[in-house]
Amino acid sequence: MEKFRIAVINGPNLDMLGTREKDIYGTKRLQDIDEEILREAEKYDLGLTFFQSNSEGGLIDYLHGCVGKIDGIVLNAGAYTHYSIALRDAIAAVNIPTVEVHLSNIYKREEFRHTSVIAPVCVGQISGFGAYSYILALRALLETLDDSKSS
Ligand code: DQA
Repeated sequence: MEKFRIAVINGPNLDMLGTREKDIYGTKRLQDIDEEILREAEKYDLGLTFFQSNSEGGLIDYLHGCVGKIDGIVLNAGAYTHYSIALRDAIAAVNIPTVEVHLSNIYKREEFRHTSVIAPVCVGQISGFGAYSYILALRALLETLDDSKSS
């Protein structure tokens, strides 16, 4: 497998994992999840970077900065998933394969969470497996990147 540069990006309130609504999001902190991703990444030849922001502009600026530096993105956009057209446009603009990820199964929850405005500009979506969603998202992203390199 090629060496890929991957960014793992988390949006608003995900810095509160571990204490935030534990019945929904579990007890792992974002740092614990990042460490699990790092351990998974050791199986592959990857360059990983992690970023979290509570602001829409912060996420968009970071995405813009990924151009030419990052091959693929794992993104949990938090609540922005459901309504940020600006974030959706940024994902489309940078044109870097992005896998959308959610800890919770957004389709089992309130109706306003059933819509993802970023889904149409992402490669795919993983939702509902807790911290393991990120591992699945990373594996899915690597498959996609590998396929596009070899085709
Ligand atoms: C979330 C689901 C969103 O609806 C919510 O706003 C979040 C977290 C998840 O990981 O399950 O902040 O993206």
